[in-house]
Amino acid sequence: MFNPLDHRGIPLDDQVRDWRELDVTPIDAELVDPYTRCRIIALNGIEVEAIVFNHHLARVCPDDDVRRRLAFTRYIESQQQRVVNWLLPGLNSVLETTLGYEQVAVDLTAWVARNEPDPYLRQAYEFGVLEDFDHLYRYANLYEMVERRKAVKVVDELTEVMPGRPTVLEHRHPYDNVRDPYDRDTTAPLSKLHALTILSAEQQVMFYYMNVGPQYMEPIARQLYQEISLIEQQHVTHYESLVDPGESWWERLLLHEYNECYLYYSFLRQETDPSVRAVWELHLEMELGHLQEAVDLLRQFDGREPEEIVGSVGLPEPIRFEPNKEFLRHLLATQLDLTTLGAGYVRDAHARFEEMQERLNGEEKPPSERVIEQHRNMFGYEYRVETEGPHPVPELREKEGIRRG
Ligand SMILES: [Fe+2]
Ligand SMILES: [Fe+2]
Ligand SMILES: [Fe+2]
Ligand SMILES: [Fe+2]
Repeated sequence: MFNPLDHRGIPLDDQVRDWRELDVTPIDAELVDPYTRCRIIALNGIEVEAIVFNHHLARVCPDDDVRRRLAFTRYIESQQQRVVNWLLPGLNSVLETTLGYEQVAVDLTAWVARNEPDPYLRQAYEFGVLEDFDHLYRYANLYEMVERRKAVKVVDELTEVMPGRPTVLEHRHPYDNVRDPYDRDTTAPLSKLHALTILSAEQQVMFYYMNVGPQYMEPIARQLYQEISLIEQQHVTHYESLVDPGESWWERLLLHEYNECYLYYSFLRQETDPSVRAVWELHLEMELGHLQEAVDLLRQFDGREPEEIVGSVGLPEPIRFEPNKEFLRHLLATQLDLTTLGAGYVRDAHARFEEMQERLNGEEKPPSERVIEQHRNMFGYEYRVETEGPHPVPELREKEGIRRG
């Protein structure tokens, strides 16, 4: 078992990189293993959260000396984020990166759902993953319309592309997106890391869509990004509300750094691209240094030991990107018709849900429905990648005689 608390890593003072070191060679857009792209995107989300969280902590920190220390770590996190995200090639279009983002949301959330020990938390991931699964399908159809290319070239056959919980039905009243939090004192450390990982992934998707959406000329593309970006904001609410609001700031900082160690350690073990692996290796050593700093601050301000928060047995089983097709098909067959009511889940549409739907949709179909219709009109079929047979929900199967994507 690798225990990050037993390692010093690279001292913080030695972590600033020069321009040459920051100028990393991007991956090859054509030859890359799709899961290498997924690991880059997931770790970018983790680094973005590290920066954003540190900014928020600094804003409420009254101690000038500590604010300078936070500024230093934050600068290092920023260099890490620039390196990680700059591994993505400029040749990829926004839509290709978008397909990668939704593939991350699907396969990372599915992995977390399969490994989450707490049933209430597991339900939150099982619920959410069916929605990003549907986004992948909507964007794949947009991709073929706008760029005349097929999503299978981006996601390979690792992740299936077909309807999930229809995006139109994902628009809920905001009250119903708030879950009950876990209890910081009794919850397994793994559950805390899971929540942090998924909220970070969803947060970067939200930021990305809200910024790139208006760059498109095609009305349907602009509209689809607008719609799905609103769902991603709901997803951030859904996942972040799982975190105990009673955690102290220093406890949260420790969890952030520990989670960064966990993810770099996990992906380092799985990475197939040697130059990307070298980045994960270096960043793990850097995160071990950040963790020491967080331990220091936790002791100083909370008078607690890190083991009280993350345990003393070391990291959980490494997170892996791998196909989750059977698991997702099982969820499609059993949980597609779920929605939320308060902090729980129900099968029937309820008054608050219906009112929100009415307010948003009125008489019109949302962009997520129109994109499929327009694709059918243009090509005579809708785009799917179904490698394991027909859709598990009969009503969502393709009509006979329609040519396959
Ligand atoms: Fe970092
Ligand atoms: Fe999504
Ligand atoms: Fe999402
Ligand atoms: Fe860090």
